[in-house]
Amino acid sequence: MLLLGLLLLTLLAAARLLWGQWMLRALQLPPLVPGFLHLLQPNLPLHLLGLTGKFGPIYRLRLGLQDVVVLNSKRTIEEAMIKKWVDFAGRPQILSYKLVSQAAPDLSLGDYSPLWKAHKKLTRSALLLGLRSSMEPLVEQLTQEFCEHMRTLAGAPVDIQKEFSLLTCTVICSLTFGIKDKATVCAFRDCVRDLMKTWDHWSIQILDIIPFLRFFPNPGLRRLKQAMENRDRMVEKQLRRHKESLVPGQWRDMTDYMLQGVWKQRGEEDLEQLLEGHVHMAMVDLFIGGTETTATTLSWALAFLLHHPEIQLRLQEELDRELGSGASRSRIPYKDRDRLPLLNATIAEVLRLRPVVPLALPHRTMRPSSIFGYDIPKGTVIIPNLQGAHLDDTVWEEPHEFRPDRFLEPGAGSGVLAFGCGARVCLGEPLARLELFVVLAQVLRDFTLLPPAGALPSLQPQPHSGVNLKMQPFQVRLQPRGPRAPGLGGGQ
Ligand code: HEM
Ligand SMILES: *[C@@H]1O[C@H](CO)[C@@H](O)[C@H](O)[C@H]1NC(C)=O
Repeated sequence: MLLLGLLLLTLLAAARLLWGQWMLRALQLPPLVPGFLHLLQPNLPLHLLGLTGKFGPIYRLRLGLQDVVVLNSKRTIEEAMIKKWVDFAGRPQILSYKLVSQAAPDLSLGDYSPLWKAHKKLTRSALLLGLRSSMEPLVEQLTQEFCEHMRTLAGAPVDIQKEFSLLTCTVICSLTFGIKDKATVCAFRDCVRDLMKTWDHWSIQILDIIPFLRFFPNPGLRRLKQAMENRDRMVEKQLRRHKESLVPGQWRDMTDYMLQGVWKQRGEEDLEQLLEGHVHMAMVDLFIGGTETTATTLSWALAFLLHHPEIQLRLQEELDRELGSGASRSRIPYKDRDRLPLLNATIAEVLRLRPVVPLALPHRTMRPSSIFGYDIPKGTVIIPNLQGAHLDDTVWEEPHEFRPDRFLEPGAGSGVLAFGCGARVCLGEPLARLELFVVLAQVLRDFTLLPPAGALPSLQPQPHSGVNLKMQPFQVRLQPRGPRAPGLGGGQ
């Protein structure tokens, strides 16, 4: 009896497998790239781009134990993420993702659903509607304090990546929890670092490739769990503090706004509702998504400007012309940024060459779909190679050159996809763009960037960078310029 049962099960499984194979055979799938060690490539986005020469902009590939479809051009990415966004808005539910969002559903790693959509919408409103009038003054104020601090260093070499990540973390702490005191900001920055470091560790990443390893003792896993407990304790404490002091109908920060948004729909009859856990995880995502990304982009910008002092000089001339030199207090509102076209073009060029999340986050198809005539079955993992699209030599002239002027040519458009596009577009794009603009404008107005002892930073990302395109450590001297330090203005 048992044997017969087993036999039947085996037959059924085999039939299912064959049926699956047959179904796939009837489909016109993207070409399959041979090999299975692609993950070992030190620079994965460039490696993936290199494969387009032989296989075209869209192909299938084995990444670890997973079959994925890689999109390497702006046209394929936009066809999937914008034109057919409903089909491509999912996220794969791999083990390391589940680990990070155990307690409550996560925004950036959560799969697409009506509830997820409500979660993203509420978080977006909290950032863009709730803080509409306070975001820009806040970023300006904090950047000004940052510049004053840099001025006290009087041109000594600084580890600028560290300083930028403290600045961007201060911005997020203020927006989310209304926190300004340095000790708490530093505690959050350390917490974010700890989480990213433990999560990026091979002992965690390998769990996505060989899931059953999680049943074995794993010190990396223990460290990650500790980091997450610490994270949840810190966020929980802030939520409690807010609930105790909240005045209904008013909000001081995103937490107040979101808590009230969640409470408001409590009485409604919907089956699934947003809970306080959603507020908790939104805050976690803002910290994880919003500190190192912007800080690293700012660092890349400085690194490129150190390599191109002629662009730096032109940026300073543009700023002096628009702000009036000597008028150190004058400012240009973000909405008037077209008055600084070269700065705008420089930001676009940095985002093009070094999109800090070069492969975005993986997507997953919610139902059968197609891209440019190729069938894409339901449940396929999709990797948008954003950096690859930015270096596509059928679109960009001399794609590897740092040349902001390419964006000043008439009809240049943007074509930069550093924040992704469609339903899964980066939630923090408006904030990140504001920060990039304000920080670079103020830093270049107040300082001349110089390499310490002529040592230029490497423009190559750290090999095996993981999700983020990290920079190799470097230092820069911020030489004060302008009215308070006469004679030091301009490039030298
Ligand atoms: C220069 C800075 C930044 C870059 C280049 C960047 C880029 C990206 C990219 C490529 C994605 C994935 C899009 C996709 O899956 O297709 C993403 C998602 C996300 N980012 Fe950013 N980001 C930046 C800054 C920020 C900031 C400041 C925040 C928060 C304040 C933030 C929060 C998020 C969140 C929550 C998601 C998940 C969205 C979703 O799954 O729907 N990011 N970002
Ligand atoms: C900034 O530059 C991008 C890229 O060229 C362009 O699309 C955008 O219109 C510019 N924005 C402003 C305000 O000048």
